[in-house]
Amino acid sequence: MQEDPGGSKLPGKPAEKLLQLQKEAAGCSLCELRKTCSQVVFGEGNFSTRLMLVGEGPGAEEDRLGRPFVGRAGQLLDRILAAAEIKREDVYITNVVKCRPPSNRLPLQPEVDACYPYLRAQIELVNPEIVLCLGALATRTLYDKNAAITRVRGQWKEKDGRCILATFHPAALLRDPSKKKFAWEDFKKIMAVYRNTQKEVADE
Ligand code: URA
Ligand code: URA
Repeated sequence: MQEDPGGSKLPGKPAEKLLQLQKEAAGCSLCELRKTCSQVVFGEGNFSTRLMLVGEGPGAEEDRLGRPFVGRAGQLLDRILAAAEIKREDVYITNVVKCRPPSNRLPLQPEVDACYPYLRAQIELVNPEIVLCLGALATRTLYDKNAAITRVRGQWKEKDGRCILATFHPAALLRDPSKKKFAWEDFKKIMAVYRNTQKEVADE
């Protein structure tokens, strides 16, 4: 399985497959990052959500606690989600790479490529209608490999039957608060579509 962690090839229900994949990822050796991080931060949340959020990679706090988006950027994300009336526990949150890069450097392309089958399997198994890319790396990985975040943010794209949107990373908002108003516009778009899909589910 380590050679190709593809969720669809695993037996069982999506939730079981995800948990199985998470177990396998804990001992992953597909790139060097596992050697220097303290634990794999696979992702968390509702396995049958309609909204998945994808960040870059774990930072120091995430590495310590084994959970995505729990440091300063995560706290800002929590405030944005609360303002958007989206419950954090109702969505699924993960990162492009599951292991913290040393001294928080950007993940290298071979690391992104090595980790991608996990992300692809998470997307396929959770099967969200909406994917929100947080920041440049998630945007290049899932939205468009040549995309500049400042150009494509806030523009819906349909891919594999999903609605994908890109917005600034919360860490970028902390560095440059003038970007917050744009991120909020993007989250309002997420809110509108997320509410609609929730309603469709309620109406079924
Ligand atoms: N930044 C990310 O991209 N992901 C996290 O989980 C935390 C900070
Ligand atoms: N892979 C998928 O399965 N779906 C996406 O939206 C992007 C990559």
